[in-house]
This record gives sequence, C-alpha cells and structure tokens, in this order.
Amino acid sequence: KNPRLILGIETSCDDTAAAVLDENGTILGEALHSQKEVHLKSGGIIPPVAQQLHRDNIERIVNKAICASGISARELSAVATTVKPGLGLSLGVGLSYSLRLVNEYHKPFIPIHHMEAHALTVRLLHNVEFPFLVLLISGGHCILAVVKGISDFLLLGQSIDEAPGDTLDKIARQLSLTSHPEFSTMSGGQAIEHLAQMENRVIFELKIPMSQHRDCNFSFAGLRSQVNKIIRQKEAEEGIQKGEMLSCAAEIAASVQYTVAHHIAKRTQRAILFCNKEGLLPSKHACLVVSGGVASNKYIRKILQSITNAADMTLMCPPPRLCTDNGVMIAWNGIEKLQAGVDILYNTKGVFYEPR
Ligand code: KG4
Ligand code: ZN
Repeated sequence: KNPRLILGIETSCDDTAAAVLDENGTILGEALHSQKEVHLKSGGIIPPVAQQLHRDNIERIVNKAICASGISARELSAVATTVKPGLGLSLGVGLSYSLRLVNEYHKPFIPIHHMEAHALTVRLLHNVEFPFLVLLISGGHCILAVVKGISDFLLLGQSIDEAPGDTLDKIARQLSLTSHPEFSTMSGGQAIEHLAQMENRVIFELKIPMSQHRDCNFSFAGLRSQVNKIIRQKEAEEGIQKGEMLSCAAEIAASVQYTVAHHIAKRTQRAILFCNKEGLLPSKHACLVVSGGVASNKYIRKILQSITNAADMTLMCPPPRLCTDNGVMIAWNGIEKLQAGVDILYNTKGVFYEPR
C-alpha cells in the first residue's frame, strides 16, 4: 500500500508556506514566500498588508509545492492548515484557500495549532518519545511546555510581554546595526551575536529579568528599556549622530546576549526542576527540544547544553530551516494526527463532521 500524502499550509504570520510529505516523513515538495523584506521597510507587520501578500501568493506557493512533489491534488489524503494562533487576517487566507481545496477534491481537513507544529517538528528527524520538554524562542514566540502527546501539551511558561527575538531585533535597531553594511544582511539577533563575539567582556551589568518570580514565565521588555537608557546615555556622552554606531556597541551587545541567555537558561532550569519534582519527564533519557530563530544563537545553545548536561538530559535542536515557519512542520503535524486518528475533520460534499 502506498504511503498517504499530506499537504501542509502555513499563513499565520509573514510567511506563505506549503509542503507535501508522505506519511513516512519524506518531504516530496515544498515552497515558501517570505514577506520579511516588506515588513522590515515599514518597521513592523501591518496585518492588512500581510493579508494581501498572502492572497497574492497562496495559490502560487501551494501549486509550487504540489508540482515539486510530482503528484496531483487528487492524490492527497488530507490537507493540514494552521488555524491558530497568529494574525487573524493572515490565518484567514490559508484557511479559506484550504477549504476551497478540500471542497473541490473532497479531502479530510486537519486543523493545526502553529505552536504544537513547531514543538513536534523534531520528531520528523529524530526518534524523540513523549513526554519531552520544549523551549520555543523566536521573534514571535517564547514558550516552555511539556509535550505529553500529539495533542497533549502542558504549558509551563511564556513571555508576559515580548519574545526574545523581537527584543534583540529592536535593540539591534537602537544600536544602528541594521543600517551598518557589515550587518545589513543579518537579522537583529544575528548581528548582536556577531558583535558580541568580537567583545565578550560583559561590562554593562543588566538585571536578569524575573529572578524573584517563582514561575517559568519570561519577560524582555524591562531589559530592553534598561539597554535603551544606556544607549541614549552613551550617545550623549560620545556626541554621535543618528545612524552612527557607538564605540561601545560590542560591549553592549555582549551584555545583552549574556543577559538574554541567562534569563532563558534560568527559566528553563526552573522548568526542569518542576518536571522532576512532579515526575513529568522520563527518569532516563529525558529530552529538551529547543526551536525557533533565537535557538541558532551559539552562546545560548552553549548555556542550554550545560544545563541539560547537568540534568542528565539530551538537548535537541531541529536544523534552522525547520526552526523558522515552514510548510513541512504543518504537514508533519497533520501526518502525526492522521496516524493517531485525532483532530481530523471529514468532508462529505462540503459539510465537515468530526469522527467519534
Ligand atoms: O523563528 P524565526 O525565524 O521567525 C519568527 O520569529 O517569525 O525567528 C526570527 C528571530 C529574529 O528575531 C532574529 O533576530 C532571531 O530569531 N535570531 C537570532 C539569531 N538568529 C536569528 N537571535 C539570536 N541569535 C541568533 N544567531
Ligand atoms: Zn512560528
């Protein structure tokens, strides 16, 4: 019997993405259109603009993924699409396009939770058994959770304000890194990592956020305002013009990276202690999965590695292209749900019903 084929569609934020996988996890075709450049110019995502760009690209991207896989839409076993969380206007484009497809071809529909898909991506490549601990750190996400099963997540903590990648991007802009030719092709987080490597003395002491909080939540907004104050003070001292880099930019970058890394590490350590106390993770071969754009930071990885070593856990990170938003993770999550028989909506002539 041929393996079943699943189409995954993702439009929750600023990437229009699609992929076709077979149920063994083989990626048959994928396509992605990023809106990042447009949003970078306007200094942030404007939802109606994102929606229009998804509309302009969805058909082309889905067809590209299907064509690359060498199949026709008729041969699909199901369509899996991100339905939450994300920008409502962006999600709507992927959802209505998917419903058009499943109605035309009479296919089952699998609604996907974007964060769950991020958390389970690792299982496409490695044999990671439930339960495991997951840390998602990116420009839009900051979450610690225990993954107990395909649709069974225990949220341990999340950011009470902004996500770490967002903070790093904003600080990089404040430091005028984004307009500097050396860093112009990098994200804010990458630029800060790069600069911090040149000067790894931590001379600006920044307060590690939430050290008094007995929970696993995160906060980055306070750190950002501490740094902004230092930047403005140094700019006045050095009498520099807008767009010029401070002479102490590398020292600031190193201090920011150190503080972000230690904040993330401390919350993760608390989560591990909590899991051990409550018996939420296996006593042998427990696993911490770290994903999201910020997880590619080598310094943050090094600190997380030392924490997992000390806790006798294995640290796993999916490759960067699967850490960022993509269609593969959505299709893979659809496959896991299809195989487990959960959350599938069957389509009978344009009317959906849930099994059981
Ligand atoms: O997962 P991702 O590609 O996309 C979204 O968040 O949508 O994450 C992007 C974020 C950006 O904020 C970027 O600054 C950050 O990840 N990032 C990094 C590094 N590379 C990307 N942060 C720290 N160190 C890095 N090397
Ligand atoms: Zn995401």
